[in-house]
Formats: sequence, C-alpha cells, structure tokens
Amino acid sequence: MSEKITIQLMINDETQHLTIDPRVTLLDALREHLQLTGTKKGCDQGQCGACTVHVNGQRVLSCLTLAAQAQGGKVTTIEGLADKQGKLHPVQSCFMANDAFQCGYCTPGQIMSAVACIKEGHAGSDAEIREYMSGNLCRCGAYPHIVEAVKQAAAEMSGDAS
Ligand code: FES
Ligand code: FES
Repeated sequence: MSEKITIQLMINDETQHLTIDPRVTLLDALREHLQLTGTKKGCDQGQCGACTVHVNGQRVLSCLTLAAQAQGGKVTTIEGLADKQGKLHPVQSCFMANDAFQCGYCTPGQIMSAVACIKEGHAGSDAEIREYMSGNLCRCGAYPHIVEAVKQAAAEMSGDAS
C-alpha cells in the first residue's frame, strides 16, 4: 500500500484538497472523490477521449493524468463550463442546437475538446475540425453534427455569428 498524499487543485474555480493514493488518476479523483461525474471513462487507456478535461487551459486525457501531476493546477471540467448564472458556453449551446450527441456519453469530452480545439485555432475548416477532434470517439456517429456545432461555436466565439 502506498502512503496517501494530499494535493491541492483549483477545480472549476474552487480550491479542493484531496488526500489520495498517489496512483489515483485525475479522472478517478474527479469522479470518485469529488463526485464530478460529467467526465466519463470510456477506456481508461487514452484511446477514446471521453475523459477530456482542461488542465491549465490545455485539453488533456484525465485517465492518463495522475491527480498528483496536476498538483497546484487549474482544472476545468464540463460542470465548470457554463457561467455562474448557468448560461451555457457557446460550444454547449451549439451542440444542443445541432443535435451533436445522442447517448451523451462522449459529449462532455467532445465539448471540452471542442472548446480547446477552437482556442488552439484548429477550427478553420471542416477537415481541420475533423482532424483535431479525432481524439474523441463517438459510437453514436454524431460526427457530422459535431463538426457543424464546432463550426458554429467558433463563429459565435469570434463574434461573427450569423
Ligand atoms: S477514458 Fe480516457 S481516453 Fe478513454
Ligand atoms: S453521443 Fe453516444 S457515443 Fe457520442
């Protein structure tokens, strides 16, 4: 048994102290220790993207990130994307408007990835969106709608929404 460690994380703008086994992944820390179950586990091996969150503004696979690696960092999950008044982030509202999900299981990861994809400047064309969203698998086959949602959100976020 390994000794427990205590780490501090800023999760969705709230400071959290966690005393955990050092082997606990960020994904399990969020889901099992903080009850933030929006972040999903589709594979636990870095192959599906359902666990995508932001650490210090970058998208990462939380199943391949130890919670301890994020020590002192700022983590944003799907639960932290809407503003304090509950107004949805443009990517969230565009996913809804474009029916970019069916079962919803890949959706938190898709949305976190899409927010980062837009911020990285990788939403310039359908092909670019497809390429830079290809780390997020969707078994329901919502891909064409996801591309539309990302394109629309990118336009809204750049201020030239139609
Ligand atoms: S659960 Fe992390 S990539 Fe699949
Ligand atoms: S909406 Fe079901 S897996 Fe993507």
